[in-house]
Amino acid sequence: MRKKTWALPLLQSHPDIVVEHPEQLCGQWKELLGVNEISVEIGCGKGDYWISMAKKHPERGWIAIEKDYNVAAVALRKMLEHPLRNMRLIVGDAKGFDQWFSEGEIDVIHLNFSDPWPKKGHSKRRLSHGEFLTSYHRALAADGEIRMKTDNSQLFEFTCVSMAQHPWKLMEMSVDFRRDEHPEDAITEYEQRFMDLNMPIYRGVWRKINE
Ligand SMILES: C[S@@+](CC[C@H](N)C(=O)[O-])C[C@H]1O[C@@H](n2cnc3c(N)ncnc32)[C@H](O)[C@@H]1O
Repeated sequence: MRKKTWALPLLQSHPDIVVEHPEQLCGQWKELLGVNEISVEIGCGKGDYWISMAKKHPERGWIAIEKDYNVAAVALRKMLEHPLRNMRLIVGDAKGFDQWFSEGEIDVIHLNFSDPWPKKGHSKRRLSHGEFLTSYHRALAADGEIRMKTDNSQLFEFTCVSMAQHPWKLMEMSVDFRRDEHPEDAITEYEQRFMDLNMPIYRGVWRKINE
């Protein structure tokens, strides 16, 4: 996305929503948001899913992570139209995940239409690479889950294999998720584009196995 001159000033003027030092809140997210359960979306893009899910499930905390500040600013601008107390935004690379969340602190991690990084040499950048999965495993609660949606069959295949090599149990799987109604789950910006093109949405839910 093109640089937006208003992006940084907007992000900086909302420290109540945009968490500048997430490492300082490590272990305190539930207390901060006044909730018992936390969901995190990594790579929230322009924020449609984050915003809709926070509205659908106001009893949970919703933390969005987005590394591109121009995109994050669009998400924030939309969110500010109807701000909710259970939402926070981290503008940063998910590589920092281990510093931001303590052991067992998160209940659900959403990976929605993550960048596929098709070249083999870039596989470590995929948000479902084994190194990320190790971080997620640590930060998830005992019955915590990863929920992934993607249009990309190769990324889905990679993720299924990656999960099978780590302590995760497959709970749900669909190769055409939007064939059925799912009122509990919001549609992301990318998802809507693929639905408009009549393309299938792959979805998997994996629960942490405690070792
Ligand atoms: C293809 S877009 C999908 C956006 C949205 N989730 C959706 O479904 O419409 C992927 C987004 O993830 C962000 N992203 C990719 N890698 C990331 C990382 N390591 N940490 C944080 N955000 C990341 C990108 O900047 C981009 O905005």
